[in-house]
Amino acid sequence: MEKSQRTKDPWNATLYDQNHSFVSEYGNDLIELLAPKQGEKILDLGCGTGDLAKKLSDGGVDVAGVDNSSNMIAEALGKYPEIRFLVRDATDLGYSAEFDAVFSNATLHWVKQPKQALSSIFQSLKPKGRFVAEFGGKGNVQTITEEVIHQLKEEGISHSPDQFPWYFPSIGEYAPLMEEAGFKVIFAQHFDRPTPLNGEDGLKNWIEMFGGYMFEKVDEDTKNNIITKAERNLKSVLWEDGSWTADYKRIRVIGIKE
Ligand code: BEZ
Repeated sequence: MEKSQRTKDPWNATLYDQNHSFVSEYGNDLIELLAPKQGEKILDLGCGTGDLAKKLSDGGVDVAGVDNSSNMIAEALGKYPEIRFLVRDATDLGYSAEFDAVFSNATLHWVKQPKQALSSIFQSLKPKGRFVAEFGGKGNVQTITEEVIHQLKEEGISHSPDQFPWYFPSIGEYAPLMEEAGFKVIFAQHFDRPTPLNGEDGLKNWIEMFGGYMFEKVDEDTKNNIITKAERNLKSVLWEDGSWTADYKRIRVIGIKE
């Protein structure tokens, strides 16, 4: 959960673990792509409450976890005190040639300065080290965000593209930035991953947990009104057989430090 350029820390780590554990559950697939070996030194960038770092540690990896949310890091340390967890920003990791791999799940879409993040990741890796990441790709959760923006405008609240809280690139946009940072891109994929949101309040919970930055200038009543209208309008699109499904689209990349 990295959020460069933000000042306050809005993350509720307990709620995150209760309602959104799917984020790290999907990350298990990415660990397969990482193919960690015993004894490797690996950085989990955007470790959240630490579940994937714990999995890596259980597999014999010498893991460190960083996140720019101090709430997330406090929760991770409480759950797994044996693991090194630190508050750091993706654009300024402060490591030099320390890691065999940098691993990042569901984080880099929060970082709107991708060049700085890639340069910092590159610096952190040993020569021949690998960067393995998955995050939101072009079109990610677009049905939801377009509806929320539409409702903001209906309420007379302006929303310009630079207020959009996320960076969702295509692989055509991201791979050249990786090359510019010095990586050899050996894998890149962009795919749909429809994601079930638990329960009748699943969409509301998702918007409240992840979409908070879209409501920075909005009072609580207006925000609730917008979410209720968005739920009503999206029911015919994202609700089926008693469950909400968010239109997640992911990109996955692997880069090697040459
Ligand atoms: C994502 O994992 O794709 C995501 C999560 C929260 C907000 C936006 C995107």
